[in-house]
Amino acid sequence: MHVFLGITGASGAPYAARLLEALSAAGCEVGVSASRAGIEVIATELYGDARLAPDETMARFLEHAHGGAVALHDPQDWRAPYASGSAEIDAYVICPCSMGTLGTIASGAMSNLIHRAASVAIKEGRRLVLVPRETPLSEIHLENMLRVRRAGAVVLFAAPGFYHAPERLDDLVDFVVARALDQIGVEHALSRRWGQDEP
Ligand SMILES: Cc1cc2nc3c(=O)[nH]c(=O)nc-3n(C[C@H](O)[C@H](O)[C@H](O)COP(=O)(O)O)c2cc1C
Repeated sequence: MHVFLGITGASGAPYAARLLEALSAAGCEVGVSASRAGIEVIATELYGDARLAPDETMARFLEHAHGGAVALHDPQDWRAPYASGSAEIDAYVICPCSMGTLGTIASGAMSNLIHRAASVAIKEGRRLVLVPRETPLSEIHLENMLRVRRAGAVVLFAAPGFYHAPERLDDLVDFVVARALDQIGVEHALSRRWGQDEP
């Protein structure tokens, strides 16, 4: 399975790291592209240093991939396969998805590879999962979410549940990542399903 993973500047870098781990562990080919703000959030939330150099940040981030083919693309790399509908891509996930990127996608504008990939997914009728995080939500945010949903995207809010008795932060991260993987049909054992007995 070939998956595009776009990372933008909303809080939630641990979700992106876990997603990369799970996709690569499942043997997916993964194309990663992170916006400038996305890289800053990764540096802040994963490595505790907002000023960490972007190259170093992404080099460390890619260490979350275990196997599988993973390629990093500059957000201005228009030659990447994700910039065109002619490339055979199975699913697109933007995680985390900032309200800025969500609004851009909703408007149809595309100023980087992440916006373009989302636009391609929508026009080609392919699986697109957006994982936004913001609170509270303005009327504009809500309208944009409705707009992308109507265009075919799945809006999977970064809102972990607590009914599975999480013990660690990772359990909350896994809850959201598991739902995203379910949406694109990637097998995982990240979280117990409702109604499933304890192992
Ligand atoms: C540490 C940090 C956390 C942020 N958290 C959020 C957030 O949770 N949601 C959001 O929509 N924007 C958040 N922002 C603001 C976005 O990064 C900003 O709007 C940026 O322009 C988004 O650009 P992008 O969509 O190209 O990544 C955050 C920024 C920083 C630096």
